Amino acid sequence: MTEKADATQENTGKQSRKPLVAGNWKMHGQKEQIQEVLAIRDALMAMPNRPKADVMICPPATLLMVMAELIDKSVIAFGGQDCHAFEKGPHTGDISAAMLKDAGASAVIVGHSERREDHGETDDLVQKKAMATHNAGLASIICVGETKGQRQYDLTLDVINRQLEGSVPPESTPQNTIIAYEPVWAIGTGLVPTLDDIATVHANIRETLEKRFPEHAAGMRILYGGSVKPGNAGQLMKVENVDGALVGGASLKADDFMKIINVYGSDKKTPPPDPKQSVK
Ligand code: PGA
Repeated sequence: MTEKADATQENTGKQSRKPLVAGNWKMHGQKEQIQEVLAIRDALMAMPNRPKADVMICPPATLLMVMAELIDKSVIAFGGQDCHAFEKGPHTGDISAAMLKDAGASAVIVGHSERREDHGETDDLVQKKAMATHNAGLASIICVGETKGQRQYDLTLDVINRQLEGSVPPESTPQNTIIAYEPVWAIGTGLVPTLDDIATVHANIRETLEKRFPEHAAGMRILYGGSVKPGNAGQLMKVENVDGALVGGASLKADDFMKIINVYGSDKKTPPPDPKQSVK
């Protein structure tokens, strides 16, 4: 398996889309929260079989390297939360995709609505960041989602299609690109769209991807994000075309995050990791 495929598993068709449960820690977490990620690692290692979902955590950049050095990425993959569009240069305070890779990341979240809002990130910039991520050999998790006002004016699908068109690079494949549908009004609010609404948006995303990437769209994972919790994950993850979750608040506590991962159960065909190999 190449470095590129590492983060995301090989996906060649609809049947082979392995779910991904990714935690987005946002600006939360200092050294003491490393315990939480170790607890997740231990819970995963204690499972008699491997979880059916891939597991990823996107911690603050300050914790990425130490976590990635402690935990084998076959148990938990790690991701960045943002990167600069350039590989290097005079950009004080920024971090490149290559640096995140060097620190142990196998993916980068780009275009999260908090970045779009707090930093004025446009679709064009998000696409450049996704391309930088791919060029560094990492997968991008490209976020799209409508605001409450856009939903009220029935603009949801227009907004999502425009964001997909502008943010997803032309060379995207199932190995390097994951889409996350995150309605802005559902993030951190405890509100979630109805299951029908999620199914409609995810089907629309799949169709839009099919037009641009006829060869690849069936294999691309589309995550749902926005107030995914242990109590609603079971229902949300069953929705057609929902291939996993991008989890904010509920990924900060090992117990909650494990309950979400466990929605997918474990896979008897895949033996548990060898503890000697998986714990560095
Ligand atoms: P939430 O955040 O689960 O806390 O709503 C999701 C996200 O922003 O990725």
